[in-house]
Amino acid sequence: MNKVKSLATKDLLGLKDLSLEDLNLIFQTAESMKEIFNRPIRRAPALNGKTIFTLFYENSTRTRSSFEMAAKMLSATTGSISAATSSAKKGETLIDTVKNIEVMGIDAIVIRHSMAGAPHLIAKNLKASVINAGDGCNEHPTQGLLDIYTMLEKRGTVKGKTVLIVGDIAHSRVARSNIWGLTKLGAHVIVCGPPTLMPAGIEQMGVEVSSNLDDVIGEADFINVLRIQLERQEKGLFPSKEEYTRLFGIDAARMQKAQKDVVIMHPGPINRGVELSSEVADGPYNVILDQVKNGVAIRMAVLFLLLGGKNGGE
Ligand code: CP
Repeated sequence: MNKVKSLATKDLLGLKDLSLEDLNLIFQTAESMKEIFNRPIRRAPALNGKTIFTLFYENSTRTRSSFEMAAKMLSATTGSISAATSSAKKGETLIDTVKNIEVMGIDAIVIRHSMAGAPHLIAKNLKASVINAGDGCNEHPTQGLLDIYTMLEKRGTVKGKTVLIVGDIAHSRVARSNIWGLTKLGAHVIVCGPPTLMPAGIEQMGVEVSSNLDDVIGEADFINVLRIQLERQEKGLFPSKEEYTRLFGIDAARMQKAQKDVVIMHPGPINRGVELSSEVADGPYNVILDQVKNGVAIRMAVLFLLLGGKNGGE
């Protein structure tokens, strides 16, 4: 990486507003980052001297740890705050919190928040780069990027391929980021789930809509199975878990209707036996742990492209 490249934007807030050029630049850069990841000593000096903070107001296993690992592999200094143990519990506002963190000398904040638009709000108030690690039901851009990167790795392209996204589309930031990114790259996206969990006007995002999984499962090159977000359900929208599993769960019997080489994906955490049976989650077509591994390379690429170009990177 002799020639330092950077994204056109200060922040990564979503895939909706990310250009096709920046989307492709992230995927190309992730290839180089994967090479660092695969070295015996997983370390490069690209972000030496940079400081990256993770600020999570919601729980996380994969996203937070992979951002922290990505930052460390590029030699950045890292810090973290969980809302549960922060002064947010004493009533400090989000803006006050991030301004206090910024003056400690940070270059980027990675934030997850239950409020859609929280990263956009703080991005307007900070000079530091802001990376959205999931904002309410709006977007989870690095999850969308790692999902698409995994599809590219498995099939070479997504252009002309059919991606079936199954589950609670209304509450899914993963679905939205996948849709924005995949449609820009020329994929055919089908969203499938209970009509009560399908946002009105979703067709305007350029997707096909179905409420009958058995009708559409055979069309898919990739099936991205969403987690049922019981914590975000409003009363009356969600059928019983048993009913949901019968109509929208992916199990071995339903896989009989899918293409023989279909790729099964899930952002995690999995509700085993609800949206995905263990037989399928651990079966030959799943790439779920590849997604997690690729998440480190994607987050290295995003950090590098946002921060590496500012003072010359490596
Ligand atoms: N996929 C995802 O965002 O996982 P975590 O909630 O564990 O970060």
